[in-house]
Amino acid sequence: MDNPQRLLESPGQWDRKALATLLHSPDSPEKATRAHAAALARERTLAEFGKGVYIRGLVEVSNFCQNDCLYCGIRRSNQSVSRYRLTDEAILDCCQDGYRLGFRTFVLQGGEDPVLTDDRLVPLVASIRQAFPDCAITLSLGERSRDSYHRLRQAGADRYLLRHETADPDHYARLHPPGMTLASRLDCLQWLREEGYQVGCGFMVGSPGQTVDNLVDDLLLIREFQPEMVGIGPFIPARGTPFADHPAGDVGLTLFLLSLVRLILPKVLLPATTALGTALPDGREQGILAGANVVMPNLSPPDARDKYMLYDNKLRSHAEAAENLDDLRHRLESIGRTISVGRGDFGDSG
Ligand code: 5AD
Repeated sequence: MDNPQRLLESPGQWDRKALATLLHSPDSPEKATRAHAAALARERTLAEFGKGVYIRGLVEVSNFCQNDCLYCGIRRSNQSVSRYRLTDEAILDCCQDGYRLGFRTFVLQGGEDPVLTDDRLVPLVASIRQAFPDCAITLSLGERSRDSYHRLRQAGADRYLLRHETADPDHYARLHPPGMTLASRLDCLQWLREEGYQVGCGFMVGSPGQTVDNLVDDLLLIREFQPEMVGIGPFIPARGTPFADHPAGDVGLTLFLLSLVRLILPKVLLPATTALGTALPDGREQGILAGANVVMPNLSPPDARDKYMLYDNKLRSHAEAAENLDDLRHRLESIGRTISVGRGDFGDSG
């Protein structure tokens, strides 16, 4: 069973050794193995969801952040960032525009901005919930208290994205400032689950110091935690950060990992991420062909979008302009896929 191509056929039996074989295979992994994985993952995605790809409207609410994650372009100590925060009114306008275009999930993402207290966010989430009763609300606002997750869930949030970033505590420590730990990140993920959210975790591929064994641990964590969503993208260096000169993550390896995650969790909601679309002109299409089934176009106002730079040269497609959604539709059609309308909750089928 050490033949990587044959191993791909039996994801139920992937233990640490099998995953290490897959990820360590020559050219790690060789092209034929990647292509085979993509074909199997794509087949599985079509069987679970059909041709439809879910769209989520991303609203980048603030690029202020109290954290200082070493990889992230909007880390606190990056002085060259021009900081902004959207008003509640601007955020609701983005959702309104998105609704008109057909979005039925809104993702509010932001840095850990001290101004985004529960007293500010609870009424905001409640008003989105009230204005768009048929839409899902996803939050991506970092680590918060359990009580905060509880109150936001009560206010109407359905889903929460919080990448674990790496399943290895020492690697986590290398990517984050003192005081941030993998243990607290995993506590948050557990609280989110217990509060009844659909939960997303995930990691970057090729972050500084990452080893193949780290990736094996990431996949084992994902299988153990059984998240409803998984975000995976290549690391891309960001100006003004300690990792500015570090090489970007390998796109082929990122695609391979997407395929493995699809085979491990056939029903998972798996985006072809903005980072993937930034690393390669047709990165999102390739992600979908490797087993992804979600894309997250940006609904943020253009000036905010330009300032929410987690990494350099971030893809700047602006979905609020209807022609860009048409462009996405055409790109999907070119690979035999369509945009799915509807909330696209975990467990829905195509
Ligand atoms: N390259 C790629 N992804 C990044 N993220 C943050 N900085 C970078 C970077 N330089 C990812 C992190 C975070 C998510 C919102 O964006 O994984 O969880």
